Amino acid sequence: MVEVLSKVVLVGASGTIGTHVLNALLADPADDFRVTVLTRPESTSTFPSHSSIAVARVAHDDLAALTNTLHGHDAIVHVGGIPSIASQPVMIQAAVAAGVSRFILNEFASSPITQTGLAETARFRKPRLDVLAVAKAAAAECPTFSWTGLAVGNIIDLSLLKFPQFGIDVRERTVTFTDEGTERVTAATLPDIGVAVRGILRAPAQTRNRYCHVRSVEMDQVGIVRALEEQQGCRYVVSMERSEVLYERGRAGFARGERSGFRDLVVVQLFGRVDGKGSSVVVGREESDNELLGVREKEVGEIVRGVLDTLALEEEKDGNAGGRGGEKDVLEQATRSTG
Ligand SMILES: NC(=O)c1ccc[n+]([C@@H]2O[C@H](COP(=O)([O-])OP(=O)(O)OC[C@H]3O[C@@H](n4cnc5c(N)ncnc54)[C@H](OP(=O)(O)O)[C@@H]3O)[C@@H](O)[C@H]2O)c1
Repeated sequence: MVEVLSKVVLVGASGTIGTHVLNALLADPADDFRVTVLTRPESTSTFPSHSSIAVARVAHDDLAALTNTLHGHDAIVHVGGIPSIASQPVMIQAAVAAGVSRFILNEFASSPITQTGLAETARFRKPRLDVLAVAKAAAAECPTFSWTGLAVGNIIDLSLLKFPQFGIDVRERTVTFTDEGTERVTAATLPDIGVAVRGILRAPAQTRNRYCHVRSVEMDQVGIVRALEEQQGCRYVVSMERSEVLYERGRAGFARGERSGFRDLVVVQLFGRVDGKGSSVVVGREESDNELLGVREKEVGEIVRGVLDTLALEEEKDGNAGGRGGEKDVLEQATRSTG
């Protein structure tokens, strides 16, 4: 196997996570990554102009065109949005046909190995598990092909900036703790996900045919709010909801197809307990792949500082309009990612 998988096809390069993956791949010229951005023919996404980036407009279901595009590459990284998850089996087929040696699966969610998701949201996990089965079968049949999944858990900077409905509202300075707000949670930041993907490409042998687990921080809701209060120089308005209440209300609402039911279940999964147990630690510090992949664990204060800096920039850009408008369907996105 080559030492670094440097010729990379990136699907979803302009997306929430893809932007950070692209940044990380281009951050250090010594890496010499060459990136072919694979974008849909109908896409209006734009990409930075850079000597290491080529753009290929290819339909996600066009096996011949995909195979043609993938020829000469070492790896494909799939970070397309949720509607594109089902495109992976065809891309895996194309990758095998083109002799691509690594497929980084579109995971970037909770870990199927270390985290037990709620039974109610299992149908959101199923498409990813189906793709994993296809990747495993391809690797078994074709020894030069391999896959890697990256488990990150909650994406904390994204959550704090875009999902106030999970309990912490950094703009309104309010928090609804789940129980006492003391359930332990590990999370990654968007830039660290980019770093981790780069780490996988730099260490192909150690990351072959397995899930890697990373953590940027371990915290609880109380710790986040203390750090926010300190840095924003104010007290948050506090309320509280019990896991049992959220869970029961979430189950009932979810069964009726209500969006608030999704939210309640996501909050229980992220910050609460079911049958007395939480499920939001992706991996312990010692067992994590942080060192291998180059991800540095941080204090909560450092994470919060980064979030508040981004918030200040957003508010400046939006003329203090808050920057919440025009988002994609973030609740559904989060539900499907963490569920
Ligand atoms: N753990 C978490 O909390 C968390 C949070 C967010 C996301 N995620 C996961 O991370 C992965 C990437 O999510 P993301 O939010 O970064 O993606 P995204 O920003 O929604 O989309 C990324 C790219 O996907 C392509 N795309 C958009 N709509 C598409 C469609 N209908 N069909 C095919 N392709 C489409 C577009 O690329 P082109 O225009 O170039 O074709 C887009 O730029 C997903 O698996 C998501 O579940 C996890």
